[in-house]
Amino acid sequence: RGRGRGGGARLRFTPIEPTTADAVVVPEGYQSAVVVRWGDPVLPGAPAFDFDNQTPEAQNAQFGYNCDYVDFFPISDDRALLWVNHEYTNENLMFRGYVDGNEAPIEQIEIGMAAHGGSVVEIARSGRTGRWELVTQGRRRYNRRITAQTPMRFTGPAAGHELLRTAADPEGRNPIGMLNNCAGGNTPWGTILTAEENFNQYFVGGNGVPEADRPALQRYGISTSGDGRAGNRRFDRVEERFDLARHPHEANRFGWIVEIDPFDPTFTPRKHTALGRLKHEGATHALTRDQRVAVYMGDDERFDYVYKYVSRDRFRRGSRRHNSSLLDDGTLYVARFTGDSPEAEIDGTGTLPSDGEFDGTGQWIKLVEGDRSFVEGMSAAEVLIHTRIAADRVGATPMDRPEDVERNPVNGAIYVALTNNSSRTAAQADEANPRAANRYGHIVEIAEHRNDAGAERFNWRIPVVCGNPDDPSTYFSGFDKSRVSPISSPDNLAFDDSGNLWISTDGQPGSIGVNDALHVMPVEGSDRGYLRQFLSVPVGAETCGPFITPDQKTVFVAVQHPGEVDEATPDNPATQFPDGPGGQPRPSVVAAWHTGGGDIGN
Ligand code: FEO
Ligand code: CA
Ligand code: CA
Ligand code: CA
Repeated sequence: RGRGRGGGARLRFTPIEPTTADAVVVPEGYQSAVVVRWGDPVLPGAPAFDFDNQTPEAQNAQFGYNCDYVDFFPISDDRALLWVNHEYTNENLMFRGYVDGNEAPIEQIEIGMAAHGGSVVEIARSGRTGRWELVTQGRRRYNRRITAQTPMRFTGPAAGHELLRTAADPEGRNPIGMLNNCAGGNTPWGTILTAEENFNQYFVGGNGVPEADRPALQRYGISTSGDGRAGNRRFDRVEERFDLARHPHEANRFGWIVEIDPFDPTFTPRKHTALGRLKHEGATHALTRDQRVAVYMGDDERFDYVYKYVSRDRFRRGSRRHNSSLLDDGTLYVARFTGDSPEAEIDGTGTLPSDGEFDGTGQWIKLVEGDRSFVEGMSAAEVLIHTRIAADRVGATPMDRPEDVERNPVNGAIYVALTNNSSRTAAQADEANPRAANRYGHIVEIAEHRNDAGAERFNWRIPVVCGNPDDPSTYFSGFDKSRVSPISSPDNLAFDDSGNLWISTDGQPGSIGVNDALHVMPVEGSDRGYLRQFLSVPVGAETCGPFITPDQKTVFVAVQHPGEVDEATPDNPATQFPDGPGGQPRPSVVAAWHTGGGDIGN
């Protein structure tokens, strides 16, 4: 395991300084450009974006809002499909003279619904660089918008269960729309997995649900003490299914991993019940030693858990029909992390224990196998629909907000971004979550037993405890702290083909006083822990994506919620990215590349 294998040899760029500059900042020798932005016409015939004359019809055919997960599917050397999640909407920045959902014109609510979901867009490379641009002419046969109103279907053991049935869908098999799709992943057969995260915010009427349904709603963050109308987008004013007092099961139809085929615009998206219902952050696959499909997933909430699904059957290369059933039948596990140092040495300050490392062993605890439950008092379908409650009962380890999980293609290790958790007390600190009031987050590295994604045991250690490096509670694998960049709130992860870990953040400017960023850090060799900042995003934005193309020439990042700053309005925007003077903030996907044609990071 030398410097070329995740050891940082290729990383010759000069790191950028952390900045509050209102721009996409890249290192010397690099360029960046917007690929696609909110409102760009996606479907043929869509009108050009007109901020002051938005309509639901236009938004249904235009690129959606707050772009998050980005994936890339090559068609040829110079053509590809880009998949982008649209996590949520900032109506106060989208509409001049904004009034909240309770008073808003119905059209505004419908535009918001259409701006959620995801987009498939065709992109093309211009010249021999890493610059990719939206294809704006011609047939664009794959382009597609998925929204809060796209018909979908359930698969797996819980499909059709009583808890998924509603008046509009008495069979419990045909949910409508997806919401708050945050990060994601893909499958070995070329489809997208997109993760529904904070779906709780879209419902009202929690105080009107039957008593029996209340504890589960509460565990997923839906209030049952009030009607939930204050500050709500009020989708129920367009479709009454979002009113739980009338349709108490509708919330159970969100919080799933959704599979979409980017190359089939007629594909009915599938909500896979076998992968459990959480505030799903992402979904990353790996093949087990015996060729079954594993999917790693985080549940992004303070004190929630890390999960893994393993299919019953094996992946068969080239057999699409067989493979597309692999997410319908398998085993769902939740992670327990056990430290190897005495509890007394974990005091919540971030001070390393006497063995010099936050590390230990772990176990994947079985929740469900096929349609057999391993949780007392819950059927398999109940475990899959109320997965958090099931995991609470089996002794899973509460983590500091599990965000993205990614697998290193070089060393096979699994990395979990734990974004932050200001609520953890010193008494609650454990070796896997060693810092109390964890404002800046950390990353856990998991080595599966025998490097097999199908294993039920693993070893783990913490390569980074984030923050400003002069803060003594930070840790960078023992690397010289005077040379590393500050980092706060790791969110999305990616790897280049040398196995260097790329980390995007979602924590600024509230924590370390600079804009959100993209960093890279070797995980092997003498440069392990040498974390450097590669990119910075405009004011008020978080950095999502990132995605490095297979040829290593382009990194895509999503600039999510630019201008999301207290008091900002369309008449007083905090940024005019990306259009410049006179423009409004528009969430965008940006490509960055080396002007000399080098690999990203070179
Ligand atoms: Fe949508 Fe957990 O970030
Ligand atoms: Ca230890
Ligand atoms: Ca995220
Ligand atoms: Ca986040």
